[in-house]
Amino acid sequence: MILFESWLPKWLLVFPIGLLWALPIWVNSHTPEFCTSLETLKDQLNSSLRRRYLKHNFPINYTIQVHYEEVFRLKNISRMMNETEDVRDLQDLWVKVTVNSIERILTVLPERHPTRYKYLNNLDSLFKTIQESYPKRNSDEVDYPESIEKALESLQSTDLQRMKSVTPKSLFDNCYRTMHCLFQDCFPRNSSQNDYCSAQHWRKGKGTQG
Ligand SMILES: *[C@@H]1O[C@H](CO)[C@@H](O)[C@H](O)[C@H]1NC(C)=O
Ligand SMILES: *[C@@H]1O[C@H](CO)[C@@H](O)[C@H](O)[C@H]1NC(C)=O
Ligand SMILES: *[C@@H]1O[C@H](CO)[C@@H](O)[C@H](O)[C@H]1NC(C)=O
Ligand SMILES: *[C@@H]1O[C@H](CO)[C@@H](O)[C@H](O)[C@H]1NC(C)=O
Ligand SMILES: *[C@@H]1O[C@H](CO)[C@@H](O)[C@H](O)[C@H]1NC(C)=O
Repeated sequence: MILFESWLPKWLLVFPIGLLWALPIWVNSHTPEFCTSLETLKDQLNSSLRRRYLKHNFPINYTIQVHYEEVFRLKNISRMMNETEDVRDLQDLWVKVTVNSIERILTVLPERHPTRYKYLNNLDSLFKTIQESYPKRNSDEVDYPESIEKALESLQSTDLQRMKSVTPKSLFDNCYRTMHCLFQDCFPRNSSQNDYCSAQHWRKGKGTQG
């Protein structure tokens, strides 16, 4: 987590002083817009909305089939963080997994289901905004570690052998928590006790917080 927070100062050190004027423009055109969209997503994914639209609107214990790689939890991050030096690798994966989750749930919903037209359609368009404001990377320079590369590939695959049953809500519970962990520059912590990347933090709320 330190990685993402520390890249800016390092970058500043090597940045020619004469070009510093460009900084505020760069910062304004990317980060705040992106964080604003994430804030909106956070509000849309609050616990009561998740419960209403992803649990109560479905039959009891309803599950859908997803690829193993579509289950992306804090545990995955702590494992994969080890293998990458750039948190953006994991952010890329989070984006892909979230897009898939929305798709998966939309696929099983009838046209007129309230979760579709009152909730997921909004999430879907909000997520398009997020992707547009997501700081772009030069794809030639991105060299994912093997585990992330593999996960990204599996997300594209249509191999139905390795599927897993999950509740629609659990997909977005995970999305919500991992978002806080991976985008800490948008969700600053104000004490060392609020470590969004630790399962402990989320357990404290006994499921009502997140
Ligand atoms: C979640 O958002 C809805 C709509 O904005 C709001 O009515 C509700 O109070 C929020 N719930 C929580 C737990 O923040
Ligand atoms: C739903 O799942 C819970 C926990 O697995 C189980 O205790 C409960 O009986 C299930 N309810 C129905 C209606 O299947
Ligand atoms: C997360 O971990 C689980 C099991 O440990 C694995 O099946 C899944 O593919 C991982 N998810 C991603 C996105 O790598
Ligand atoms: C992270 O890497 C270190 C050293 O390579 C290893 O000892 C540790 O078990 C790894 N942690 C996880 C969670 O994989
Ligand atoms: C820390 O954050 C919590 C919740 O976001 C807030 O209630 C509290 O006032 C904050 N504390 C400080 C010292 O900013």
